[in-house]
Amino acid sequence: MPLLKHSYSFPTRMEYGPGAIADLPKIIKEAGFSKGLIVTDQGIEKVGLADKLRNYFSDAGITIYSYSDVVSNPTEQNVIDGTKIYKENNCEFIVGLGGGSPIDVGKTIKVTAVHDEPLEKLDDTKGGDKYIINKMPPFYAVPTTAGTGSEVGRSSVITVASTNKKTIIFSPDMMPDIAVLDPEITLSLPKKLTAATGVDAFVHNLEAYIMDTFHPFADGLAKEGIYRAFKYLPIAFENGNDVAARGEMLMASAMGATAFQKGLGINHSIAHALSVYYDTHHGLANAAVLIEVMKYNITDKKVNEKMAALGDLLNTENDALAVISAIEKWLIKLDMPTNLKGIGIKEEDIDGIEEYAMGDPCRPLNPKTVLKGDVTQIIKNLL
Ligand SMILES: [Fe+2]
Repeated sequence: MPLLKHSYSFPTRMEYGPGAIADLPKIIKEAGFSKGLIVTDQGIEKVGLADKLRNYFSDAGITIYSYSDVVSNPTEQNVIDGTKIYKENNCEFIVGLGGGSPIDVGKTIKVTAVHDEPLEKLDDTKGGDKYIINKMPPFYAVPTTAGTGSEVGRSSVITVASTNKKTIIFSPDMMPDIAVLDPEITLSLPKKLTAATGVDAFVHNLEAYIMDTFHPFADGLAKEGIYRAFKYLPIAFENGNDVAARGEMLMASAMGATAFQKGLGINHSIAHALSVYYDTHHGLANAAVLIEVMKYNITDKKVNEKMAALGDLLNTENDALAVISAIEKWLIKLDMPTNLKGIGIKEEDIDGIEEYAMGDPCRPLNPKTVLKGDVTQIIKNLL
């Protein structure tokens, strides 16, 4: 593959550091904007983070509107409602404040603010990116969790009303103009969510790393992200106020999402299906299937070699099964599930879950070819 042509893109501006959020309104003001929209959710409103950011905007003399009703698996209606507020108030920029959901909705409003096509038409798997052609307003991402890495990504995942499917909207121009990585604003993240979102970051790095695509830059970032998440997530989990560990996790998260421009794999496909069927938290779903999916993947020789090579980073032997065992102990330490016993899988749903996972856009990129019946077997092994 080094002999083929590839296109790489790593351009996100990142403002990292404790207190970095306070500088964002000043940067936006200097860019010449005076009116914008914050996209967030009720959880962020309740802990006072949205008020904090609104105050910084008001101090900088910027008028700010808010859309605060994003749900955890964001919907087309969220995008429609936020776009309405943006347009009615002639906003000039958007800030996504929250976990992956508000950032994904904010990023999508960046598109729908200047494009009238329905989201179904913009579906990336159906070539929808060709309709995203107009100049879009700036978008600033302020993650309050360290997991999805949406703050450095060029796509969003929104459940479209007409199909009830999680749909990828993609354009190179959807990349946030600035990602503000401020570890202090992740301190309020509860223990369970710290673990679940952090595992998501770890899985992004891991699935990107084992993918059989020529992308040495992404591989380098993925290995660094695997190392950081493995080392620092248990520290942030034990002591949520450890600013340094929180900062390391923000980095692992941004690395994961930068690396997964290579793509993700079947772990995410099954996690997506579980979220649709049982509204399982995305990170928790990724944790629950990870060990069995990796045991499945290492039957592929190349994946086995890559997994074995992680032994040095995870402080274990250079052996694929030893690496998987170290990951399993790590998940247990984080109080995360390592099987599906607690999810409440119904026997009659398994065929549908397999069908959903097989149709998921991540599945074709899995390094081991996924055959009919494989997903069912993985799920049954986890019950
Ligand atoms: Fe994910």
